Amino acid sequence: MKPQPLLFVDSAAAMGGAEQSLLLLLTHLDRVQWQPQLACAAAPLAEKAAAVGIPVHPLTFPPLRRSWRFPADWIRHARTLSHLAQKTEAQALIANNIRAALYTAVAAKLARRPFIWHMRDFWLGESRPRHPQLDTLLKRLLCRAAAQIITNSHAVAAHLPCPNRISVVHNGLDLVHFTPPVPGAADFRGALGLPETAVLVGMTGRLRPWKGQRPFLEMARAVHARHTHARFVIIGGSPFGVQDGYEAELQEMVTRLGLRGLVHFTGHLPDVRPAVGALDIFVHPGAPEPFGLVNIEAMALGKPVVAFAHGALPEIVLPGETGLLVPPGDTAALATAVGSLITAPARRAALGRAGRQRAADHFSIQQTAAGVSTVLATVVRR
Ligand code: GLC
Repeated sequence: MKPQPLLFVDSAAAMGGAEQSLLLLLTHLDRVQWQPQLACAAAPLAEKAAAVGIPVHPLTFPPLRRSWRFPADWIRHARTLSHLAQKTEAQALIANNIRAALYTAVAAKLARRPFIWHMRDFWLGESRPRHPQLDTLLKRLLCRAAAQIITNSHAVAAHLPCPNRISVVHNGLDLVHFTPPVPGAADFRGALGLPETAVLVGMTGRLRPWKGQRPFLEMARAVHARHTHARFVIIGGSPFGVQDGYEAELQEMVTRLGLRGLVHFTGHLPDVRPAVGALDIFVHPGAPEPFGLVNIEAMALGKPVVAFAHGALPEIVLPGETGLLVPPGDTAALATAVGSLITAPARRAALGRAGRQRAADHFSIQQTAAGVSTVLATVVRR
């Protein structure tokens, strides 16, 4: 039996969580069964996929602006993708992000191949839509066009209008590369110049308001008022190149809250492991997250996770076992939960160990690849 060609499609210009997740998936899909190929923007994803031996087809995916040219443009690009599907003999087209899905749905129809929608977000944009009806309408059309729908969490599945047709496949990590102790973690701590006794509390995420840097700083102020040996680190930068003054605003907030010298910003790090490995407590203070790879990364590295109980977090963190969950948006409760772990190193270690175990049991890339493979097998005849 020959491996079946598949065409994965992603339009992002930089490596976000969806692209990281796709790259891992492509690397771990069973090559006896499948021969994955990738159509994507000429971006880091293309290079990284090529480097692991995935055939890459660079394509452009113009933003879906409302212009008079839009329908013609859309069809033209969808047609290019459909030709590619025919040329590569792809047995299914799998869209990895929303813009890609809107092109892929049409391309698959033109090429008469099944379209699989891998939905990793709550809405058809990064944040709550201005026109919820349009969001629902387009979701309905994508649901109808898709032969199968995969979501990265039950939380995302609950935002789609076709609940009965969804397979939830959680993201996974290559746990070989996410194992404590992390080389470089001690150096990371050293470079921050922390006092010996410091307890380091951190978060990871792009510098965007919805990732929760503001509530993190509020939490930091409340924690530091009671635990003067707590220190804080905000891991992440702006890989998509957004320049809207948010970072400057965060710096002002640090000064206003009297946290100068207590909060460190790492900027964008291509490899977060040394920084996350250096933490004592990991915090996820953001808005509801469709999944949030950062949480399973922290767990895999043996860190207790303290988070708001919304989005996919309740599917990831077992409260009292691998971390603590507090009511969404309640920064005072977040600070209390973090504070309770600052004074309890043995508890931190126990939660971290259980988190590592949970990551190994539930969030490995092997499990993700097997889950996706099962869904693929329902639409690709052998
Ligand atoms: C998207 C989601 C994020 C998720 C990632 C991988 O980037 O916003 O929550 O972890 O996809 O599925």
